[in-house]
Amino acid sequence: MKKTSRVLNPGWKWYWKEWEKAEPPYRPSKAEIKFWERVVKKNAKKKNCRVLVLGTTPEIRDLLARYKLDVTLVDINPEMYRSMNKLMRLKNPKEKFVRTNWLQMDKVLPLNHFDIVLGDSPHSNILFSEYDKFFKNIYLSLKKEGILCLGTAIISPKEKGISYETLIKVYRKDPSKFKEFKWQKYYLYKTGFSDKDVFNPKNLEFKEGVFDKKIEDLFKKGKITKNDLKYLQFKVGNYTDTFPSPYIFNKTIKKYFKILEFFIDPLSKKYPIMKYKRDYILEKKKEF
Ligand SMILES: C[S@@+](CC[C@H](N)C(=O)[O-])C[C@H]1O[C@@H](n2cnc3c(N)ncnc32)[C@H](O)[C@@H]1O
Repeated sequence: MKKTSRVLNPGWKWYWKEWEKAEPPYRPSKAEIKFWERVVKKNAKKKNCRVLVLGTTPEIRDLLARYKLDVTLVDINPEMYRSMNKLMRLKNPKEKFVRTNWLQMDKVLPLNHFDIVLGDSPHSNILFSEYDKFFKNIYLSLKKEGILCLGTAIISPKEKGISYETLIKVYRKDPSKFKEFKWQKYYLYKTGFSDKDVFNPKNLEFKEGVFDKKIEDLFKKGKITKNDLKYLQFKVGNYTDTFPSPYIFNKTIKKYFKILEFFIDPLSKKYPIMKYKRDYILEKKKEF
């Protein structure tokens, strides 16, 4: 396999018990699902509407189950699929799972076949150098004028990071904030974005494992306690995700898609971490 074909998170298995505790933006919020529902509802009226889901997000699958749609799920990891099944509220007899790499699905799935493709930031798991291939594959899988409903992790170049010292100060001032998922993750990302070892602005990779290691070093130096580690680390192993800027992201997708709408959850007024997420409704271009 070429070096650039490296799969970022091949062994990803966040078991349902842990995923159940995760909140938006890790999982889609109610408002995000509503944003995509308009597209689903409109397309569900079509005869033989076919939907492709990248990943196994339970909220997206429940939305499609409500409309009794014909769904194909694609993920490289069947364990994640089995685990996420436990968080489903509805059963969709018309849902099937295909185990494959999104970068190779053009060889496995029919082309020009799906009315809608849906995914909650699947490309966060893809090397930035592979984004073009990834979006091309989605393009190829969609029918003419097909729609891509896509959540994306995003980072504004104006984002001001904080240092590890500031992180510890903020934590000491109000440790209760770090018991809240959205605030805890917000401060951890904000710190990681200011450290080039954690977030590399060139390849856009954010390495949660490297961040956790830096925090571990602070513990070894006696700057924080063992108990603090509970609140100041991601604890998702060596998970790595890619965070494009809105400019880079729009430029990449505009090659294959026309942006019909985009959405930032109003929860972002209360929780700034929601600004690291954006949702799109995109239409397949006639040609590229
Ligand atoms: C953070 S987790 C799950 C959250 C994700 N939003 C979802 O919808 O499933 C990332 C998922 O992406 C899958 N994955 C990562 N790289 C992949 C690839 N190249 N092809 C297919 N699935 C991939 C993993 O197996 C895992 O289930």
